[in-house]
Amino acid sequence: MKGTVLGIEGTAWNLSAAIVNEKDVIAEATDIYSPATGGIHPREAAQHHAKYASMVIRKVLEGAKEKGVSPSDIDAIAFSRGPGLGACLRTVATAARTLAITYDVPLVGVNHCLAHIEVGRWKTPARDPVTLYVSGANSQVLAYRMGRYRVFGETLDIGLGNAFDKFARSAGLTHPGGPKIEQLAKKSTNYIPLPYVVKGMDLSFSGLSTAATEALKSNSLEDVCYSLQETAFAMIVEVTERALAHTGKSEVLLAGGVGANMRLREMLDIMCNDRRVSFHVPEKRFMGDNGAMIAYLGLLMYEAGDVLSIENSHVNPNFRPDDVDVTWLE
Ligand code: ATP
Ligand code: FE2
Repeated sequence: MKGTVLGIEGTAWNLSAAIVNEKDVIAEATDIYSPATGGIHPREAAQHHAKYASMVIRKVLEGAKEKGVSPSDIDAIAFSRGPGLGACLRTVATAARTLAITYDVPLVGVNHCLAHIEVGRWKTPARDPVTLYVSGANSQVLAYRMGRYRVFGETLDIGLGNAFDKFARSAGLTHPGGPKIEQLAKKSTNYIPLPYVVKGMDLSFSGLSTAATEALKSNSLEDVCYSLQETAFAMIVEVTERALAHTGKSEVLLAGGVGANMRLREMLDIMCNDRRVSFHVPEKRFMGDNGAMIAYLGLLMYEAGDVLSIENSHVNPNFRPDDVDVTWLE
C-alpha cells in the first residue's frame, strides 16, 4: 500500500498543508497567523485557520498538479490530532474530514510530536534517536522503546519557546522572542545566576522566565539574554544526555522551532561529541511546525493500516505521544 498523502497541520499559529509520497514532499502551502500584538489568541488563530484552510488546500493541490499529481492520486488525508489549541485542532479536523469524504479516502489522525520525530528520521540519517523536541508549547525528550515513543523527560509547566517569548515580551521585544534573545545573547559573556530547575528527568521554565525578567532591573538586557539561554539550554542538554545514558542510543535528533538556535546546537554538538554519538538537525523547513511532517507520518500510518473512521476522528488537545501505539515501525 505505497501511497500519496495530503496532510494538514494547524495546532497553533501555523496553518500548513502538504502532499508527500515515500520519496519526497510533492507540494506544500502555508499561511501563518501572526497576532498584531502579544501572543497567540486561540480563537483568533482558529478563525484564521477557518478563513484560509480552503486557500491553503487549493494551493497545495495546484502545486501537486504542476508535478503531475492530481487529487485522484491521493490515498489518504492526515491531520494533526493534537496536542494543540482545541479550537485550532477542531477547525483543521473539519477541513480534513471534508476532504476525506470528498475524495472518498481514509482519514489518518496524527500525533503532532511524533510527526516532528518521523520527519526528522525521514530527512536526516538518524534511525533510532533520542529526540529533543523544543518548541513554543512543547519541550520533551523522547525515544522509542518497545512499541511506543516514551517521554523520558519533559517540562512540568510551559515550553521553552513560550518561556523565551514571555521574557521577551516583558523586555519590550516583539513576538517571537526566541530569535531576538539569540541575537542579544551573542553580545554578552557575563553570566548572571538564574534558577536551574531540573527535577529528576523533568524541567521547569516558568520560574526561570520570571527570574530573568526580575534580573533586568539590575543587569543589561544582553547579559540577561545570554544567561537565560545558557541556563535553559544546559538544563535541556543535561536531560537529553541522561536519556542517552539510560537508553544506550547512539543518535540525537533536534526538533521544534527552538532548534533554530545556534547556541543550543553548539551545546548539543559538544555533548554528543563527548559521548561519541551522532547529532542530527533537519533542514529548517522541517524543524518548526510544517504540513509535510503531518503528511509524512500520515503516510506511514496509512501504509500500516492505521486509519480512522469519521465518527472516531475527534481531536485531543492533550494528546500525548506516549499514548500512541506505534504501528509503523518494525
Ligand atoms: P508547537 O505547536 O510544536 O509548540 P510552535 O507553535 O511553538 O510549535 P515552532 O515553530 O515549533 O512553533 O516554535 C516556535 C518557538 O520557537 C517560539 O517560541 C520562538 O520564540 C522559538 N524560536 C524560534 N527561533 C528561535 C531561536 N533562534 N532561538 C530560540 N528560540 C527560537
Ligand atoms: Fe510543533
